[in-house]
Amino acid sequence: MNNPNTENPPPAAPSDFIRDIVGKHVAEKKHPQIHIRFPLKIGRFLFAVMTLAALFFNHSAMAANFMPVALRCENLSNPTGIDEAQPRLTWRVESSRRGAKQTACQILVASSQPLLEQDTGDLWDSGKIPGGQTLNIVYAGKPLASRQQCFWKVCVWDADGKPSWSDAASWTMGLLQPDDWTGRWIGFDERPRDNAPTTNDIATRRLAARWLRKDFTISSKVKRATVYFSGLGLSELYLNGQKVGDEVLSPGLTDYDKRVFYITHDATGLVQAGSNAVGVILGNGRFYAPRNKSSRSFGCPKLLLQLEVEYDDGTREAIVSNPSWKLTTTGPIQANNEYDGEEYDARLEMPGWANAGFDDSGWSPAQIVSAPGGKLAAQMIEPIRVTGTLKPIAITEPEPGVFIYDMGQNMVGWCRLKVSGPAGTTMSLRHAERLKPDGTLYLNNLRSAKVTDVYTLKGKGLEVYEPRFTYHGFRYVEVTGFPGKPTLASLEGHVVNDDVATAGGFECSQPNINRIYSSVVWGVRGNYRSIPTDCPQRDERQGWLGDRSAESRGEAYLFDIAALYAKWVTDMADSQKENGSVSDVCPAYWPLYNDSATWPGSMVIIPDLLLDQYDDKTVIARQYPNMVRWIDHMSGHLTNGILKKDKYGDWCVPPENPKLIHSKDPARQTAPEILATSYFYYCLTLMTDYATLLDKTDDARRFAAQADQLKTAFNENIYNRQLGYYGNGSPTACVLPLAFDMVPVAERGRVFNHLAEKITRDTKGHVGTGLVGGQWANRVLTAGGRADLVYGFATNTTYPSWGYMADHGATTVWELWNGDTADPAMNSGNHVMLVGDLIIWLYENLAGIKSDPAQPGFKHIIMQPRLVGDLKFVKAWHLSPYGRIASEWRRNGSDFDWRITIPPNSTATIYLPAASTDGITEDGKPLAKAAGVKFLRMVGDQAVMDVESGEFHLSSKINH
Ligand code: BGC
Repeated sequence: MNNPNTENPPPAAPSDFIRDIVGKHVAEKKHPQIHIRFPLKIGRFLFAVMTLAALFFNHSAMAANFMPVALRCENLSNPTGIDEAQPRLTWRVESSRRGAKQTACQILVASSQPLLEQDTGDLWDSGKIPGGQTLNIVYAGKPLASRQQCFWKVCVWDADGKPSWSDAASWTMGLLQPDDWTGRWIGFDERPRDNAPTTNDIATRRLAARWLRKDFTISSKVKRATVYFSGLGLSELYLNGQKVGDEVLSPGLTDYDKRVFYITHDATGLVQAGSNAVGVILGNGRFYAPRNKSSRSFGCPKLLLQLEVEYDDGTREAIVSNPSWKLTTTGPIQANNEYDGEEYDARLEMPGWANAGFDDSGWSPAQIVSAPGGKLAAQMIEPIRVTGTLKPIAITEPEPGVFIYDMGQNMVGWCRLKVSGPAGTTMSLRHAERLKPDGTLYLNNLRSAKVTDVYTLKGKGLEVYEPRFTYHGFRYVEVTGFPGKPTLASLEGHVVNDDVATAGGFECSQPNINRIYSSVVWGVRGNYRSIPTDCPQRDERQGWLGDRSAESRGEAYLFDIAALYAKWVTDMADSQKENGSVSDVCPAYWPLYNDSATWPGSMVIIPDLLLDQYDDKTVIARQYPNMVRWIDHMSGHLTNGILKKDKYGDWCVPPENPKLIHSKDPARQTAPEILATSYFYYCLTLMTDYATLLDKTDDARRFAAQADQLKTAFNENIYNRQLGYYGNGSPTACVLPLAFDMVPVAERGRVFNHLAEKITRDTKGHVGTGLVGGQWANRVLTAGGRADLVYGFATNTTYPSWGYMADHGATTVWELWNGDTADPAMNSGNHVMLVGDLIIWLYENLAGIKSDPAQPGFKHIIMQPRLVGDLKFVKAWHLSPYGRIASEWRRNGSDFDWRITIPPNSTATIYLPAASTDGITEDGKPLAKAAGVKFLRMVGDQAVMDVESGEFHLSSKINH
């Protein structure tokens, strides 16, 4: 293969080539025995991830001092509401010593703390389990009952066979059986489901919030109180006037006909003997459909609640939702809608409404309403929270009385306002991503979303307001009606998203890449709204499957998305029709059953990411039957091994004309049969892996055979042997068959060369893929030895490029490459889809941090940084399930310096850039003297070594 870039390693051998791209070669994938470890991770909301930090003090003392220190105690705190019969247990071994590893473990689960302290696992004693497994160990003890508290700890044995116990942790089971719920669904069916809005009429789309309350008496001293509740679409819970929990926009989104989340809180301490009160505010969310004829509506907001109180004497009592509750719709939230905003009249506030003794005589009895239909399930994902605050950087007044705040960043959330003025003064906050040339808001790209929060003052000194049941995607805020002149201090932005933990950081010597990275991080997290949404600002905000099929792997380097994406795959299964068809949007609020392989294929592709990055096999095991149904259904669309059915094409390739949304140039487009057949082929190879993993040999054979048929038909019908490419040879038509290893070995070089030529000649070093091809292109080019072209994409500032977006004011990634000039009809300023595999490339190829699919979850790490272009340094870290991985390299002339961290209980194979073995040192010492490093071989200009866990400092001489 032509390889003009001498800084890159030569093109890899075929099997390495494919391993580099899709992370595996089907036949080579070795999975550990599934029976030890599969099922479900305990939900993050009540995180039962237990962290065992085993600290080795120093080498010599190690044998006697394997000291357990719980470093992440917050993760251990009282997880409640787990509704999995067999929760999974995970811990992390921490050590600064090289080569630290667990060789065996033993888990004890007890029904009480004292029993656990006596080392009695009356619920489960796993016995000594040999091996280093610390992730997703399935509870295999006595059956667990609803509400049961479980106390657990783990003993780990180190490399020298020394045992060490962790601190204790606990979890509490949720309500496992439907009849555990004794409350009734209550609400106010102002518009029964059949009369739910079917138009875009704003008035009917913005119901007033429902306020519900109940006084109750507690007879004696409370030992433990737990509240379980589901308030749909959105809810806030109060006990004795105090908000319970810090989640917002809760519960998470589901198809309410199939699944409904309940939230659990430990309420001990929030209720006491004597008079008490519980209150709930209900917003519309997506339950009462926010917009658009095609949005499904599920009815008016409703509540199910159960507060269980356990007394010191062991007796119990439950306060449940029923018609004895009172309800009003005349509270201050007069209208609410996620897209249009909230209207709040502070004069209607009801001080003390959630306290005992409030006079609710003017309220109505709550109605018993129908149950939503879906199965009640504990929300096992991190809730949405206010995760940050932004202070505005500027304020202008483009028209008298119209004030425009600039938050300095396209963000997602809402504003917190401080204002004082006369009662009855009504003011508005409108939100937009851009400004018009005259400095006023540019609203055209928001379509019908009104994005307006209206606040009416009560006139009592300083008033502070922030909305509850809406959110906006914006950089600019227009304030009108403000009494007097607002200042920068009058308003701040509250950043709102799924509170997923940050899992990585990346910085390099190229400022353009750093600002793009920042844009991606803001965009990705802003689009977490218990599903990955397409955009946060216009009247859409849906979970489009195709946008994230491979791109999501990159997100896993940024955030801990294990639970979120497992939940989204469940949403996909919930959308599935009897015949196996899956909606393009999940939850299927817009039911779109087009049977493209590229969008619903995510149901098969995303579980592979969860396996590789988190060693989570549960999703595969659980969804396997659904994936098979989808494969079988889609197979019905095949004609002679070719799939032609495709709805969206390679969505959003860079158009030739600045005004266009979609290119009209046939040379830029990729034929449906290429997109659909290659994606479906890839799904079949994954299905072969999954069937093998689950010991379903016949299925594995069947999928492998079907994949082979597709590959043969694809090459016979679509490959042009004369020209050496597929179809019209568009970049995506080359990228996908290369990425999925469909190209005959002898032809691979030709197809790759055509791709490289397309980029150098036709797109002039610019991106030429849309959202489908773009999710693979960077890795294909790098695996073929042309990381230099990717570096060009990443550093370009001319159209089309991420740098062009940034140069034109973007602080998040646009929906369109020409987002500054295109038609506003489809032109969001904060979309994730065009990120493609850029983040994967930054981590896996520039920093060189990649999980080895043969030992998933970063049990074994492949570290292979690419020295590309004028890049001088890269500093990256990733918090893997085994702990922190770091890669920091710097080159200066012929000197290469690399600091790496491999977490305890992991190992790595590293590829150190080096002209030869001469002069390679570790911590200043010759390699032969370095502990924990084993030189294997030279491959081109890289020294390959096996490395144990620990911190290493390598230096080498490189060609430059
Ligand atoms: C969405 C995209 C989606 C596409 C598919 C757009 O409206 O914003 O994210 O993939 O539709 O048609």
